Amino acid sequence: MPLLTSLRICTRPVHPIQRHFRRLLGSHLSTGCRRIGVSVQSAFYHQYSSSSSSTTDNALCGKGIVVGCYETEGGYELTECAKDVDLQTKGKLIHTINMSGGPIKKGESRLFYDITEDHAHLAVVGLGPRNKGAPDVSTINEDIDVSRQTVRSAAAVGTKMLQSAKVADILLDDLSDAEACAEGSVLSLFSFDRLKAEKKRKKIPNVNLLSTNPVHSDNWERGCVLGEAQNFARDLMETPSNLLTPTIFVDRVSERVGGIRQGLADPNALTVVPRPLSWIQSQDMGAFLSIAKGSSESPWLLEVHYRGTESREDKQPIVLVGKGVTFDTGGISIKPSSGMGLMRADMGGAACVVATVMALAQLGCQQNVVGLVPLCENMPSSRAVKPGDVVVAKNGKSIEVDNTDAEGRLLLADTLCYAHTFNPQAIVDLATLTGAIDVALGSGAAAVFTTSNLLWQQLHKAGHVTGDRVWRMPLYNLYSKQIESHLADISNTGNRSRSGGACTAAAFLKEFVEVDEWAHLDIAGVMESHGELPFLGKGMSGRPTRTLIQYVMDTST
Ligand code: BES
Ligand code: MG
Ligand code: ZN
Repeated sequence: MPLLTSLRICTRPVHPIQRHFRRLLGSHLSTGCRRIGVSVQSAFYHQYSSSSSSTTDNALCGKGIVVGCYETEGGYELTECAKDVDLQTKGKLIHTINMSGGPIKKGESRLFYDITEDHAHLAVVGLGPRNKGAPDVSTINEDIDVSRQTVRSAAAVGTKMLQSAKVADILLDDLSDAEACAEGSVLSLFSFDRLKAEKKRKKIPNVNLLSTNPVHSDNWERGCVLGEAQNFARDLMETPSNLLTPTIFVDRVSERVGGIRQGLADPNALTVVPRPLSWIQSQDMGAFLSIAKGSSESPWLLEVHYRGTESREDKQPIVLVGKGVTFDTGGISIKPSSGMGLMRADMGGAACVVATVMALAQLGCQQNVVGLVPLCENMPSSRAVKPGDVVVAKNGKSIEVDNTDAEGRLLLADTLCYAHTFNPQAIVDLATLTGAIDVALGSGAAAVFTTSNLLWQQLHKAGHVTGDRVWRMPLYNLYSKQIESHLADISNTGNRSRSGGACTAAAFLKEFVEVDEWAHLDIAGVMESHGELPFLGKGMSGRPTRTLIQYVMDTST
């Protein structure tokens, strides 16, 4: 497996709007000379020192603590951390909780002042009944580790309460699960407001773990990596398409990879290989190119490689493929204009894949992983592919482009063919592929279409642990029949109108897969959060990044 250039160095003219935003916002949107060795700072460690922020009205200051309490029959019980605080304050915490109405319900939070000498603010978050180990029948169909999800939510509620109270430094109770706690807190602090005026941007407090137990600290660190990976995917998804072209996507990923490499024992374990148009042409990727040629923005096929097994470079990699349409207008089969702006997130699969590979490197995962993301825009133009055109994919199959809005499967067809050249142990692709899957599952779970029961079990288990669930969907021959074409080998849409739209899309992809260990995740339904979860708020979700990371981590142990 060739691991070529580690970082591409180039200079390009900077578009005026990018120059403007760069001035406004710092390096983030850089498109020119690559800066190598940018340190990757998490939201958690972003310092808002009082000296620099005290001049603004909404500056953060002071210290605060978040602790938890469980519900018991007719009362409540403090977590271990909360008990310590109560002990140190000679019972002041329990006294104050009792004075303020007693038990705090699950998902709720109560703010107190001057409980301890060092921290002006203290929030107590409700965790519900303590998990006694036996599965709770009322949640058995939820397909989720409820106690971990409760911790994520509670950590988010507590963190946001102190953030609203303008606390600069927060110490967080591990809530019996430091990893989930970190995830909830990190995810809750995400806000995409760097395009707004400075004073309108949310200030990000420092958050650290209250406990000094090294086991808790390790779990906390892992949770931070997971949460930050998802936040990176959210950021890419949320970024407007004029500020995240395929080229800027490559730059943003290369910049972050450069920072992460610095923290690795072996920096060469993580590399990026951006493949330009000429390379895509040389690979006979006629399906991908048919969409890319409709836009004046250059397409890229970005590869992110991670080598986790020092001694066994030949170990078969897991190949992750992500749809990277930086904007989907629908092309000549143009979409209705209402809500079209959401199609800036049609690169959610790509975002999730690159965030995953980087996180696996940070976690020192013992797997070899290759991330492949085809990047382009889907635009109507005089050069755009037209309905009824026939194009030929890398594997020689001819495709009738019945609808130019079914573009994701064309990019993925060629990239899946290419994925086989890495001799993969498994191929997993992720794509915001169909509106039909949003109709079927909404934001409840990402859909998994797979020819492998093992892969299904692994992904399902990972979703249970992370709370970012997946649900299995069928790959029946019925759907393969529905994509037959009278012009070409196959059509890019099903012939039964919109019926089973997500299933015919999956059946289409199956035409380009020759390994058994393959799974396709349709993530269109989970692309956006609508406020269902306290730790995700509203906006682009970055789902299911943590589940993908968890899946790969689990295969390596
Ligand atoms: N990117 C869209 C799917 C999508 C819809 C993602 C809503 C996120 C939210 C995809 O390219 C698309 O347009 N699919 C078409 C396929 C159809 C033309 C067969 C769809 O779902 O309508
Ligand atoms: Mg489309
Ligand atoms: Zn699309």
